[in-house]
Amino acid sequence: GMSGKKVNVLVVGLDNSGKTTIIERLKPRPKQSAEVAPTVGFAVDDLQKGPLNFTVFDMSGAGRYRTLWEQYYQEADAVIFVVDSADKLRMVVARDEMEHMLAHPNMRKVPVLFFANKKDLPVAMPPVEIAQALGLDYIKDRPWQIVPSNGLSGEGVDKGIDWLAERLG
Ligand code: GTP
Ligand code: MG
Repeated sequence: GMSGKKVNVLVVGLDNSGKTTIIERLKPRPKQSAEVAPTVGFAVDDLQKGPLNFTVFDMSGAGRYRTLWEQYYQEADAVIFVVDSADKLRMVVARDEMEHMLAHPNMRKVPVLFFANKKDLPVAMPPVEIAQALGLDYIKDRPWQIVPSNGLSGEGVDKGIDWLAERLG
């Protein structure tokens, strides 16, 4: 693709799923924070990945801030939806928020990358089970992919971003 192409990536998912941690792994190592705190509202970052300039919108997943997500649907060229693979109890909540988002009139038919994050935890559900719990097979109107990740080590993060970059380049 064209070098210097700018794309807006919206990063959503429930609180504590690991959104901010994953975004840190996309920064050059000296700029990465070791510790992350729960996001208040949202944060915007500019990141470089190959020929792409990503503007990343890191949204808070906390209930009181989830209404902010829709303000960025119109501008989003791609969505990253982060799931805590070990949070079985809230998988249905994640599905609900995801379905709401995809049904929103401002949401375009952009690719959605699902990170099945925290794959290192012993109780982590396998990605196939998460895909089933989220009903991903019902998503027919846009490209999607689910990639297991470990936000702490960075494992899987590049693989997911490469998939997204291919769809955006
Ligand atoms: P909000 O900003 O509140 O919506 O949360 P968030 O989705 O940005 O989560 P955040 O990145 O703040 O991570 C929440 C907690 O999960 C932190 O303590 C992280 O260190 C931890 N965490 C993130 N990714 C992983 C992972 O892959 N494995 C494990 N074990 N912990 C992780
Ligand atoms: Mg955060």
